[in-house]
Amino acid sequence: MEAQYLCKVNHVMILFLVIGLCSLVAGTKHVSIKNRLGSGKNMSLHCKSGDDDLGKQNIADGEEFGWNFNVNFLRTTLFFCDLAWGKVPQYYIEAYNYARDHVRCDTGCSWLVASEGIYGLNGQTGLWEFMYNWPN
Ligand SMILES: *[C@@H]1O[C@H](CO)[C@@H](O)[C@H](O)[C@H]1NC(C)=O
Repeated sequence: MEAQYLCKVNHVMILFLVIGLCSLVAGTKHVSIKNRLGSGKNMSLHCKSGDDDLGKQNIADGEEFGWNFNVNFLRTTLFFCDLAWGKVPQYYIEAYNYARDHVRCDTGCSWLVASEGIYGLNGQTGLWEFMYNWPN
């Protein structure tokens, strides 16, 4: 009876060890969002995940906001942001969505916020892709 119990405890510990190693192998990723609106326009940015609230940021023209994170064990990591500037009072973007981005942004996602919309860097091709269009 006691031996069986010990054995179960060991299995649980091994499971946690494996989870820990998998997170290490997955590596740290980086997201950065840069204000390229021009004409000295500020933007405000508020990014969150299920676990983290990165706070409301005021980002001046030419400046950027970035953070590091690890993909979770279940591969469901999602960081989303509310973004606002001049004529756009609130706009939702997904800054990192594992399902969409684990290949696209291998080591992380970079975004450029411009007056015509938002570009994302495709890490596979090295090309900036137009990803979000401002609402009319
Ligand atoms: C941008 O933000 C800074 C810092 O809060 C502020 O001093 C400046 O007036 C803002 N610029 C514009 C154009 O709103």
